[in-house]
Amino acid sequence: MDGNGRWADRHGKTRQFGHEQGSSNVYDIFLSCIELDINTVTFFAMSSENMNRSKEETEFISILLDDSIKKHLPDLLDNQVKFKVIGDISHLPKNIRDTIDYAESATSKFTKYKLNIAYNYGGQWDVVNSINILMRKKLAISYENLSKYLSTGSDFPDMIVRTGGYKRLSNFMLWQAAYSELIFLDVLWPEFCSDDVSNILNNYKSIKRKFGKVE
Ligand code: FPP
Repeated sequence: MDGNGRWADRHGKTRQFGHEQGSSNVYDIFLSCIELDINTVTFFAMSSENMNRSKEETEFISILLDDSIKKHLPDLLDNQVKFKVIGDISHLPKNIRDTIDYAESATSKFTKYKLNIAYNYGGQWDVVNSINILMRKKLAISYENLSKYLSTGSDFPDMIVRTGGYKRLSNFMLWQAAYSELIFLDVLWPEFCSDDVSNILNNYKSIKRKFGKVE
């Protein structure tokens, strides 16, 4: 979800306003995905590196996360969506961790749709975290075991879409991205809309995925 700051700048607004617009787009885009039968979506809200931004900015985004969960939880329950925050949230204030825990527990039994928010998330952190779990459990460090204990489990993305014009993963799902289709768009996140989702999906359907094999 890149481009909130530039979008705000172009509209003569503050970065905070840009993040508010970006945040209000998240659930709308998730609903567009559901309508198109995309059943698992992860939104990359904050990377581990983004956490080095000013306290004012990171705190503001953590409050947006809290507000957004509270606002959409009834709808997540109605739509039977499993909600999860992936990343290291141990530093967040207790009230926000409680909001997250409550939403995760209340939706934990659902299986049809999954909405993940990556917050203070890094692909490198995810791999190291999984290895630490394996070591604690005294399990072999195999592809299968390492995948199983990632924050996404063995649920790997078919497609990773980055808005905002840059062509890099910025530490997003490094292990899980091994065979994901990568899509980079110039559109800034607050302007990303349901038409963009359908265009991307139509394009994805025309791609022959070979997973390294020869036809
Ligand atoms: C990157 O673009 C965006 C972020 C680091 C924050 C994204 C946060 C949200 C969309 C709001 C959080 C919402 C929820 C539901 C957790 P940037 O703002 O750095 O853009 P720039 O490169 O144009 O400055």
